[in-house]
Amino acid sequence: MPVDSRPWGPTLSDAEVAERVDALMAEMTVAEKAGQLTQYFYFRLPAPPSEEIEETLHVDFAQQPEMVEAALGEGRVGSLLFVTDPAEVNRLQRLAVEGNRHGIPVLFGFDVIHGLRTILPVPIAMAASWDPSVIERGQAVAAREARAVGIHWAFAPMVDIARDPRWGRIVEGAGEDPYLGSAVAVAQVRGFQGERLGSPDRIIAGPKHFAGYGAALGGRDYDEVNLSDAELWNVYLPPFQAAVDAGAGNVMTAYMDLNGVPATGNRWLFTDVLRDTFGFDGFVVSDAQAVHNLRTHGFAADLTDAAARAVTAGVDLEMAITDPAYAHLPESVESGLVGEEVLDASVRRILTAKVRMGLLDRPYVDEDRARAVLADPAHRAVARTAAQRSAVLLRNEGDLLPLTSPGSVAVIGPLADSRRDTLGPWVFDYDSTETVTVLAGIRERAGGEVGYAPGIRPAQRVFPSMFDMWGDNAPVDPADFDDAAELDRAVSLARESDVAVVVVGEWQNMIGEAASRSSLELPGGQLALLQAVAGTGTPVVLLVMNGRPLDLRWAAENVPAILDIWYPGSQGGAAVADLLFGDVAPGGKLPFTWPRTVGQVPMIYSHTISHEPDNQRRRYWDEQSTPLFPFGHGLSYGRFEYGDPTLDRSSIRAGETVTVSVTVTNVGPRAGDEVAQLFIHQRYGTASRPVRELKGFRRLTLAAGESQTLRFPLGPDELRYWNAATKDWVIDTTTIDVFVGGDSTAGQSVSFTIGS
Ligand code: NOJ
Repeated sequence: MPVDSRPWGPTLSDAEVAERVDALMAEMTVAEKAGQLTQYFYFRLPAPPSEEIEETLHVDFAQQPEMVEAALGEGRVGSLLFVTDPAEVNRLQRLAVEGNRHGIPVLFGFDVIHGLRTILPVPIAMAASWDPSVIERGQAVAAREARAVGIHWAFAPMVDIARDPRWGRIVEGAGEDPYLGSAVAVAQVRGFQGERLGSPDRIIAGPKHFAGYGAALGGRDYDEVNLSDAELWNVYLPPFQAAVDAGAGNVMTAYMDLNGVPATGNRWLFTDVLRDTFGFDGFVVSDAQAVHNLRTHGFAADLTDAAARAVTAGVDLEMAITDPAYAHLPESVESGLVGEEVLDASVRRILTAKVRMGLLDRPYVDEDRARAVLADPAHRAVARTAAQRSAVLLRNEGDLLPLTSPGSVAVIGPLADSRRDTLGPWVFDYDSTETVTVLAGIRERAGGEVGYAPGIRPAQRVFPSMFDMWGDNAPVDPADFDDAAELDRAVSLARESDVAVVVVGEWQNMIGEAASRSSLELPGGQLALLQAVAGTGTPVVLLVMNGRPLDLRWAAENVPAILDIWYPGSQGGAAVADLLFGDVAPGGKLPFTWPRTVGQVPMIYSHTISHEPDNQRRRYWDEQSTPLFPFGHGLSYGRFEYGDPTLDRSSIRAGETVTVSVTVTNVGPRAGDEVAQLFIHQRYGTASRPVRELKGFRRLTLAAGESQTLRFPLGPDELRYWNAATKDWVIDTTTIDVFVGGDSTAGQSVSFTIGS
């Protein structure tokens, strides 16, 4: 196909973009402007959902598409979401373009969270790679597939800090730490967007949910959040700032109240912080139905009030399922409740994104090209590498892994043979036939005999998930499953085999949005199955398929090898086999503190110290006060030693930079991967600071006997913090201890002073 080289959106200067937007706006009525600020879901479900789900979501799914098509035909829609078929994209786009006098197309958005057709490991897994380059490559693949089918914008990355694993959405983020979270956020924005907004094969990134959503009370999704200013500025806001600095074109609001004010109507958040402090110049979208919800919160009186409050707070686009509140904006402009300049500012941002993305010049997609892009084998290769690099080796007693001469292998557990669960939550357009399960991956690679027994039936949620309405999403409870016989079969298989690979975890509908838990135990009969298999005496390798820490206390004492494989995506089983048999070495590290039990939650590594910190008798009397595995933990097939860190100077003034050097050596007999982590602790100052804070990391691959010297700068960005006493950013006059090592308990340290 000839390349069209005429100037278009992505190649225009800022002034040219503004000119086109001005020209459109000069001709638009207030009603047309309100239409541009409305985004609709367009649902075509694989099967009709249950009445219960329709009632919960207040949607008549049979009517929904017709209603949206009518709105498109009347120019009342600026954006659509949930359409992934390129032919449908073109059909709906044509309705939009022909449905308004100005021929303005709609922007298609979607939850491209960890891939579209090629499914990458879930985001928490990608974060566990501690490898920004693999994260960027992964999201570039996701962007390429999405753009090819006609999607312009991802509702990702989720950059919410999550410190409570009862909250199911911990799986969508980068874990508990703002420094790691910021690095992951930047990598994802670059992967989605490329060099600049409108880059070919890329889409707009939308960091979400602004802000504080991860701190939901009790880990209950959507519940209120109360955060001090110090926590907001030091912990919850930095990944957003990093994403904005990396050029993110969009930000999404959050559902909950932040310190008593709904986030979606919170002018301080969107205007004072996001626009005025962070300098964000993209557009803000509400979360789904969140403008409506301003009434539910006891904040807005009615839909007119809700729309007025959201738009004046700085929320440009309303994401609606039915009955948009923003349809009331024209009457509010008329009555003077909302100034037309407020509406104009929002419309300008939406139109700027459309022009920049080239929508006005090329609104339709090439359906043949879309098919070719989705089938690209290079995408599968990226997914496989990402899954290899995400896995975290939690335990490896007696170097059971890698399995260099495994003999016969027993693969046990229903998750081992479940394509849908291998992919994880938040995928809708996957091709499950091409998904490699753990069982398939091991069968392909092992060479010797591989037996399989599920042992138990899949566990079920007590209350169903709203996502179960998509295709084959919910785990099937087999009617003819003989529990006693199947357990016996699994145990006999383990007894007859040289090694047992047991897969446990949570089914994918047990994690994600609206998937909070009051316990962290392995659901269903999985612990009993594991104990029965381990009781045979056959060495056990435990694979954990999860998006949150689970209660592995028994396994951590009784099972020699534990590999956290997360939900590893379409190439997951192949990557797991690569790791088990030693073709590649694991090197991921935990992006969160792994508690022993739910009763310890929330538990973070970067806590402050107070009265008698080391006196266990002063803390829990029924359980250790330490985690099962610390933040940053993860083993490899190499063994790493750290030299003493050194400094290029022992004292600096505020504003200056000190460089820390450290040498890492692989003293083991095999090659391996390590993530060197640098933490600081401020000894004293104008506020108490955490025992440790991550301020640098680097992932390396070292051959046996190989060493590498790393350098980490510590300057104003790393040393400043937001101070609750002065209500401002400060760098204290103090002594800073620096720790470098393979996890957050790193022992090697050195100190320097900051003088006035
Ligand atoms: C609600 C979720 O909170 C948000 O993250 C998601 O992007 C939207 N629904 C659209 O699916």
